This record gives sequence, C-alpha cells and structure tokens, in this order.
Amino acid sequence: MSTQMTPPPASAGRPVTIRDLQLKKDAGERIVATTAYDVLFGRLVDAAGVDMVLVGDSLGMVVAGLDSTKKVTLDQMIWHCAAVRRGVRRAVLIFDMPWMTYQISVTEAVRNAGRALAETNATAVKLEGATASSLAAVRACVDAGIPVMGHIGFTPQSDSALSGARVQGRDDAAAAQLVADAVALQEAGCFAMVLELMPTELSRTISQTLRIPAIGIGAGPGCDGQILVLPDMIGLNEGFSPKFLKRYADVAGIVKTAVAAYADDVRGGRYPDDSTSFS
Ligand code: KIV
Repeated sequence: MSTQMTPPPASAGRPVTIRDLQLKKDAGERIVATTAYDVLFGRLVDAAGVDMVLVGDSLGMVVAGLDSTKKVTLDQMIWHCAAVRRGVRRAVLIFDMPWMTYQISVTEAVRNAGRALAETNATAVKLEGATASSLAAVRACVDAGIPVMGHIGFTPQSDSALSGARVQGRDDAAAAQLVADAVALQEAGCFAMVLELMPTELSRTISQTLRIPAIGIGAGPGCDGQILVLPDMIGLNEGFSPKFLKRYADVAGIVKTAVAAYADDVRGGRYPDDSTSFS
C-alpha cells in the first residue's frame, strides 16, 4: 500500500476542481484532457496546462503491450496513478477503475474506488458503461462521496461484447440508447463523461442534452472537451493510427535518433569523454 501523499500545490497555481470543469462547460469553454501513466509525463502534461489527467487502463495496451485493457489489475492502476500524482499538481486527476473492480457488487465498487482514491490521492474515478451494475456502482460511489466520471460509446472493457473497437451509435436505435445511457449516468451522479468512438451528430446531441461536461475521443468536435491517449498523440505509440487521431509530435522518432546517436558515440569512443568523466 502506498502511503506517500503529494503535498498541496506550491507555485503551479490553484488546482483545477470538478466545479471548475462544470463552470467551463457552462461558459462554453472547451476542456482539455490527456492520459498519463508515470510521474514524468504527468509533470509534463500538467505543466502544459491540461485541465484533466486520466490514468487510463489503456496503460495495459500502450505501456505494457497487452492485447486488452481487461488484464490490468487494481494494484497496477494504483501504482501508476500514485506515480502520476507525484507529477500532477494542478489538473483534476482521474483514476480509471479496472475491469471487474466495480461490476460485481456495489460493496466491492465502493471499497475499490475508495482504496484507489485513498492510496493515490486522485480526485475521482472513472468507470465504463451504463448497465444496471455500472449505474448502481456510480450511485453507491457518489453516495459515499467519491466523484465518478462515466464512459459510454466504445467502452474498451467490453471489447469482446462490442466485437472490437468500432464506432458506436450509428443507427437510430443505438443512438437513442446512448443518449438514454448518458442521461442515466448523469442522473446517477456522474460529474462528467467520456464519449468514445461515435458519430459527430450523436456526440453533439449528447453534449447538448447533458448538464455535465462530455469529453470526446473519436467523437468529433461537438463535445465539451477532448481527451487523447498521450503516447498516441505525441507519436510515441507508432503502430496505432486510427482515423480520429492527430499526432502532435514524433517522439518515437526523437527517441530513436537520440539513442542511435548515443550508440554511435559509444561505439566510436566519443562518449564518455573528459568532460563527462571524473578525474
Ligand atoms: O483508458 C483510457 O485511456 C481511456 C480513454 C481512452 C478515455 O479510457
């Protein structure tokens, strides 16, 4: 169990609160979010001024190379989120609840979510879906004082049931169901929600229907904010290039060039030299 808590922010300015996110929606200001999985990138995205940082269970795929987010455990998420917390001073920090940590019973959901916040100092948890068990988990967590973010559309923990990563809500019935799901999550007490992989018209309708902020990923420009998986958007995760992704850097290229230059220097006897050695 991690006992190290991050001290209050020093010079980074007032931390963003859940209320600030709502005020941004009310004022028509877009909310910016990325994922992060360690202290280095947590520090960087926080310094870049994002409003929200999600320690997503996507870490199983992008950081650990697994084939599904379903293999990520609560302990692994806690370890990563506690690391990110040590770098994030300003943004709202969200802990993504792993598969089967909130579906089995509301008692387990509250116990696991409570443990997650206590051991990481995250602000809130996120959980997927609007099934009866997800809605019950949201209600129970909110009742226990744990802020919850919802997640609908493509929900990666249900990848098998949804037959893979596909755009959701394309026909009228599926779209109407997603609008109903969004409203149900809001009424259950969510303070915000992720809309993943859905047509622009649908995510716009949901965003306009909801009081709370809707944060899109692969859901077009009509949402109240956007989130991207950090290694994807900075070009560190080279193999992944879905249509919705915009790459803002080529970090993989920078790393390969730097490591190749280092290897060249070592092999050529140029590193270390006198200036980087002790006499
Ligand atoms: O796990 C994750 O990174 C997520 C985002 C894609 C929203 O759930």
